[in-house]
Amino acid sequence: MIKGFSKLNKQEKRNWVYNKYLSNNLQELEIFSKYDLSDEKLQLLHDDFIENTIGNYLLPFAIAPNFSIDGHYYTVPMVLEESSVVAAVSKAAKFWSERGGFKCEVQSMEKVGHIHLFYEGDKQILFNFFNQIEPILYKETEPLTENMRKRGGGISSIILKDMTDNLEHHYQVFVTFLTGDAMGANFINSCLEQMTQIIEREALIHLSEGSLEVLMSILSNYTPQCLVRAEVSAPLSEMTYNDIEGNIFARDFVRAIAVADADVYRAVTHNKGVMNGVDAVVIATGNDFRAVEAACHAYACRGGKYKSLTQAYIKEDRFHFKIELPLAIGTVGGLTKLHPMVKIALKILENPTAEILMKIIACVGLAQNFAAVSSLITHGIQKGHMKMHLVNILNQLGATIQEKEQVIAHFIDKTVSHREVVQFLNQLRSS
Ligand code: MEV
Repeated sequence: MIKGFSKLNKQEKRNWVYNKYLSNNLQELEIFSKYDLSDEKLQLLHDDFIENTIGNYLLPFAIAPNFSIDGHYYTVPMVLEESSVVAAVSKAAKFWSERGGFKCEVQSMEKVGHIHLFYEGDKQILFNFFNQIEPILYKETEPLTENMRKRGGGISSIILKDMTDNLEHHYQVFVTFLTGDAMGANFINSCLEQMTQIIEREALIHLSEGSLEVLMSILSNYTPQCLVRAEVSAPLSEMTYNDIEGNIFARDFVRAIAVADADVYRAVTHNKGVMNGVDAVVIATGNDFRAVEAACHAYACRGGKYKSLTQAYIKEDRFHFKIELPLAIGTVGGLTKLHPMVKIALKILENPTAEILMKIIACVGLAQNFAAVSSLITHGIQKGHMKMHLVNILNQLGATIQEKEQVIAHFIDKTVSHREVVQFLNQLRSS
């Protein structure tokens, strides 16, 4: 147990970690400083993003080109650590750009926040009280919502919901917001906390019967009203993939989605493949991937059973493939103005609105899933994956540039396995 850790300066924090966990290993001691940025101002900016910062943690920033989305070509920045994801999605993007590209639609962009309250008393009295104070909730949050309203956003509705069927005495003030190009978490939470104060104040004055207590107020990361759809389609005759004929490929593809719908074990892996793409763009653009993950998985079980986030079917000799995702993301506010790499990522995407970024992310999720399932139903995933992973294995084994070239050339037409790479490298080194 250490007291006052947060009050130590960065070097003192590092020293504490060194002494407690890393003191026997000089190489490990140096890692932190190797990852320090030479630009002090930039380093300070990164240090200040979170608390107790003692170093930087780098992830690769990659590019997936050739995304034709609603007739416009996008080059998509992706940040992630898993090999073969970017190669796979780029291949899928190219495949679909040659077949008419992705078509998208944003159904709505509403976000939601709740004030959870407990009331013991006559329901009608609570609802009458709420009707009485509803205009005050709008009026007194006007200073907070002014800027958002200028940008076409603000509070769209405030409703009192009776939740007592599921939890005794529980009611919810269900507030919907439009937050323009911002993700809007701070805006929503500030409005909710302001409303909470108003409710508590007015209850003291006007609610003479029953007892009302506000438990908490917070936005919901479940955003089914902030929904984007993306789809691709092509004639079966154009669906030949990895030498498998179009009609067979499409039939097996549809079956693979049906398997994910039928079996939760497969559905989770299937959707993990979708999120490989989604998260990588969400992170590159400075958005909250935990929020997006939580929302997407909740959406995947909206019908009471966890299912595929994508759908595929064949109709009139055409293959159709679709995705629908609840994506509460932003292109202003938060990290977007702060993190230099996020600014660059947004610039590469031509500074999109939140609506366009929702579309781009949905297309990447769809393409990523297409790439994974296409591999699985044809030559399997390991062929591509291990080829990309070969470089990681070689780096782990400390291979020189020359050794890498020789090993890669050797495995060009062979299946890669960790054991065989080690064996071949040892042979090379001993010869
Ligand atoms: C690996 O990161 C993702 C896949 O497992 C997805 C899938 O199985 O559909 C390949």
